[in-house]
Formats: sequence, C-alpha cells, structure tokens
Amino acid sequence: MVSSLDGFIAKSDNSVSWLEGGSVYDAGISISEEEAAAFVKSIDCYVMGSRTYEHALELGWPYGDTPVIVVTRRKWPAARKSVGFYSGDLKTLVDVDLAAQYRNIWLVGGAMLCRRFLELGLADEIRLTLAPVLLGEGLRLFDGPLTEQRWNLKNVVAYKNGFVELLYAAVTE
Ligand SMILES: NC(=O)c1ccc[n+]([C@@H]2O[C@H](COP(=O)([O-])OP(=O)(O)OC[C@H]3O[C@@H](n4cnc5c(N)ncnc54)[C@H](OP(=O)(O)O)[C@@H]3O)[C@@H](O)[C@H]2O)c1
Repeated sequence: MVSSLDGFIAKSDNSVSWLEGGSVYDAGISISEEEAAAFVKSIDCYVMGSRTYEHALELGWPYGDTPVIVVTRRKWPAARKSVGFYSGDLKTLVDVDLAAQYRNIWLVGGAMLCRRFLELGLADEIRLTLAPVLLGEGLRLFDGPLTEQRWNLKNVVAYKNGFVELLYAAVTE
C-alpha cells in the first residue's frame, strides 16, 4: 500500500496525481525499469477488493496476464481470462485455494480488504510506502480499528523521489 504521511491511501475523488514523485532526496535510490519489471514478475497472483478492481479498470489494467482474484459479493460481467471473482471465506481462499497454486500472493488493497486480512492473520508481510505528501482527506489506510499486533521491521528503502518503503514481517510465536 502507498499511504500519505497523514495515513490516507486514496483521495475522495480517486485522483492519483499525489502518487507521482516530486521532491528529490539525493541520498535515495531509484530503480530501473528492468528492476521494476523483475519485481512485478516475481508476483504470482494478485488479490483485491471490488472497489480497487473498479479503480484499476478505470485507470487502465496494470496487472497484465498475472492471475487476479477480486473479492466481492456482487455478480460481475465476464472479465479478462486472468480475472476470477471470489465471495467465500477469506481464510479458505488464501490458505487453501491460493496457497496450493501460488507462492508470492500480493494483496493490492484496498483499505477494507486489507483490514479484513490483518484481522484474520492472513498477511505475512506488510509493504507500506510513504508518499511525501499530506492529503488532509480521503480513505484511511486500514478503514477502521484493528487489534494491537507487533510486526518486525525487515527493510527500509528511501527513494530519490522522496517515497520511503517499509517492509515488515509478521511476528511468529
Ligand atoms: N494507495 C494504495 O496503495 C492503494 C492500494 C489499493 C487500493 N487503493 C484505493 O483504495 C480504494 C478502494 O478501497 P476500499 O477500502 O474502498 O475498497 P476495497 O477493499 O478495494 O473493496 C471493498 C469491497 O471488497 C469486497 N469485500 C471486502 N471484504 C469482503 C469479504 N470479506 N467478503 C466479500 N467481499 C468483500 C466488497 O465488495 P462488494 O461490495 O462488491 O461485495 C467491498 O465493497 C480505491 O480508491 C483504490 O484505488 C489504494
């Protein structure tokens, strides 16, 4: 997820210009298109809530032919071959259906589905990128309260464009 400094992941009007880099942080790194492509290639499957799906369709599909599971209770018209719709138990989806087929499963969002995954203990990593901007309004990162959970910091990457990526792993007892 990409969050503003004040904890929003989307503006009310769904505009995305705030996600473009602006500031220049000299000590930061930048990644090449090849590195970005290799990272994306390492993702075996995407999972997202239906509102994130709708927004991705509006913006222009960025997921290529990688399998995408859209979590929804609604009926949707047939979509591209790589997209499937799911409305059952989320633990069964992740631990049974997807774990049997894929290794690197990326939960795209949004706020509602991420909160549900965290409540159910279905995420083993959190990748949170902070954008160098205060938005002042919009959709909160996790769309409601969560119970306290500790996470271990695994990596921090600062980028030239002022974005900072934080990688956390779930604490396993
Ligand atoms: N900044 C970022 O990194 C980032 C990342 C991802 C998304 N976003 C943004 O976040 C916004 C969308 O987030 P959101 O929180 O409003 O919505 P969302 O999580 O994308 O989707 C919510 C929908 O998912 C379905 N859903 C959620 N939990 C479910 C469950 N347990 N069982 C069945 N269906 C379930 C429901 O669909 P139905 O109503 O169809 O039943 C629900 O209305 C968009 O603006 C998107 O662009 C930002």
